[in-house]
Amino acid sequence: MKFFVDTADVNEIRTLNDLGMLDGVTTNPSLIAKAGRDIKEVTKEICDIVSGPVSAEVTALDHETMMKEADVLAKIADNIAIKVPLTFDGLKTCKALTDNGQMVNVTLCFSATQALLAAKAGATFISPFIGRLDDMGINGMELIGEIRTIYDNYGFETEILAASIRTINHVKEAAMIGADVSTVPPSTLHALVKHPLTDKGLDAFTADWKKTGQSIL
Ligand code: E4P
Repeated sequence: MKFFVDTADVNEIRTLNDLGMLDGVTTNPSLIAKAGRDIKEVTKEICDIVSGPVSAEVTALDHETMMKEADVLAKIADNIAIKVPLTFDGLKTCKALTDNGQMVNVTLCFSATQALLAAKAGATFISPFIGRLDDMGINGMELIGEIRTIYDNYGFETEILAASIRTINHVKEAAMIGADVSTVPPSTLHALVKHPLTDKGLDAFTADWKKTGQSIL
């Protein structure tokens, strides 16, 4: 499974990219607002750090303006994936862009039939929002499973990008169900490394090693 980080914080992206396990980045208008940066400037910086797909989202609601915004965003770098919302106009924009060879991430997906439409529109990525469904008392992970079945039934190549991930368990379950990508907030990516037994074991090894008085170097 690929790991994308879900942030527009360039420092976090640089740190996680240095780990060598970052396959891409997703941003959205809320994350750009949180970073307090100009969208074109910050997106360019991110694309200079990460070689995998970097999702940059259009903000218009109509197809024509979405196409114009997509044109501006796509010129930022070759690894831009244009993010469009799962609306009639968003799907129309997705089809037009992917027919032209542009990567597209269809976002704000909350049902399997929406995901089916995105695949038919040629989406490179579909972003089902797990956490926001869980917030409503609906099991978001079931949606990932439904989309996996539908895409496998028909051989769609659209990658399932598990989004709105809130917990380590979300990452584990998305991987077990067969999501192609998880886009994870930086804090959750850091938390994936941690386990109390790892810390406890390391403390014991370090203490015992000191008693030997040895040094490897
Ligand atoms: C996905 O690309 C979105 O940016 C993101 O995962 C939304 O997550 P949230 O529901 O935590 O805002």
